[in-house]
Amino acid sequence: MVLLAASGRSCFQLGFPSIFACRRPLLRGSMILALILCCCMLGVLAGTATPVPEIRRVDVVLGCSYVGEEGLPRAFGGSQHPATLVLRGLSVTDDGTLGDITDYEIPQEDHSSSAPIIFEASAQLVSIPYADALLHVDCSGEEVSCELSPYSFQQEGNGLCPASWFLAAIRLSSGISIALLLRGPSCGSQKDEGHNVALHPKLRIPMSKEGTLLTTVEFQSSSNNTSLRTRLGSSITFDCHFALAPSFLLSSLEWRRQHRGSGRSLFRYHVGNAGPTVQPKFHVDVEQLLGNGDASLTLQEATVDDEGMYICLVSTAQHQVQHNIQLLVTEPPRVRVFPTEVSFERDETITLTCNIAGYYPLDISVSWTQKSSEDEVEISLSNTRFSSHRQSRDGTYSIASYLSVSSATAQLPATYTCHVSHVALEAPISISTHLKAPGECQG
Ligand SMILES: *[C@@H]1O[C@H](CO)[C@@H](O)[C@H](O)[C@H]1NC(C)=O
Ligand SMILES: *[C@@H]1O[C@H](CO)[C@@H](O)[C@H](O)[C@H]1NC(C)=O
Repeated sequence: MVLLAASGRSCFQLGFPSIFACRRPLLRGSMILALILCCCMLGVLAGTATPVPEIRRVDVVLGCSYVGEEGLPRAFGGSQHPATLVLRGLSVTDDGTLGDITDYEIPQEDHSSSAPIIFEASAQLVSIPYADALLHVDCSGEEVSCELSPYSFQQEGNGLCPASWFLAAIRLSSGISIALLLRGPSCGSQKDEGHNVALHPKLRIPMSKEGTLLTTVEFQSSSNNTSLRTRLGSSITFDCHFALAPSFLLSSLEWRRQHRGSGRSLFRYHVGNAGPTVQPKFHVDVEQLLGNGDASLTLQEATVDDEGMYICLVSTAQHQVQHNIQLLVTEPPRVRVFPTEVSFERDETITLTCNIAGYYPLDISVSWTQKSSEDEVEISLSNTRFSSHRQSRDGTYSIASYLSVSSATAQLPATYTCHVSHVALEAPISISTHLKAPGECQG
């Protein structure tokens, strides 16, 4: 609060060192900095006065790369160029900490060939999802990637001058993925206004006086998590939502799974046709789909065969946007060590067994340690052997690890521990067995 008062409500005058850490190198211009400073103040002011949150309209600016030259498919080395995506007037919640936010102003004309291509996108026809996450991305420590590319439109053309369309693919490191279809200026507008309209030097389409490309978001779709994990037998939902400008209608939704080189359709629905075609165990709520653009797919009782890349394909008569969602099935191991307690006879070697069962996927790490009363710390042991791994009917694996201990060399009494790490475990499992010295009382 002190900081805010002293700064006279201007984001620029905050002399707060950590603020500059938030600045991303891709962004240019003082107004971008203003946005970022304001969003950083959220952290500074958290926990102070809590005014009622209100909805505000702000510009969100993302550093992107533009991929693909006109007419040159990406596979043929379409080049990359820096780009800036200015999302105009997004609705975000302000709990009083956003401060004064000024609209983004286009930087002074930059004629160098490396100047970013600036796309201004108006979100008046469809609202942009996750606007709050996008605004605060710099301060929440999230990584954002944004790629703009030309989008070829299926049915416009036919001798008419086509509008230029672009796809913005935005990904946040938390797993959110957003696709925006932008309608750019058409070459028709050039004719309408005579020859006064300048063409963008790279994209050869009409640009605004400030040298930007004015676009409208006409189709957005998103997924809240593109990397999911589930346990065997659980149900899981693959999130996929979309919104369309009023001039477009949903024509179909399809969900596919791609795994180890083969693809399969799980759900297909054409608007107007009878019912959807759907594989057992899968479900999409068609009422939600048509009502509010919720295209999410639910899978019941996951098995290891359900792993793969799930693809949500939302289509209108003219366009298609897709989201890829990776599903990993993970099942933690059950670990037992036996015998659980051992009394040695003299000159005897016994074998300890660590049995690890029911895990998925295959990768697992097993180690043994020993600790006698004289050892300060646990000592790693390397003289271990393994069984080959077995796969059971449900696809899970099991393996055994063996450790031989000889009374001639062991310092007894001692505790032997089997440690197991696996991707499905938050922390390793450690199971111990106690070896008594010869003659030590039975416990
Ligand atoms: C995405 O899913 C993974 C695995 O199911 C989970 O660990 C992670 O927290 C999820 N991310 C978000 C943002 O919900
Ligand atoms: C993601 O979307 C799914 C399905 O729409 C929903 O069940 C889940 O709660 C969402 N998760 C987050 C972290 O928002």
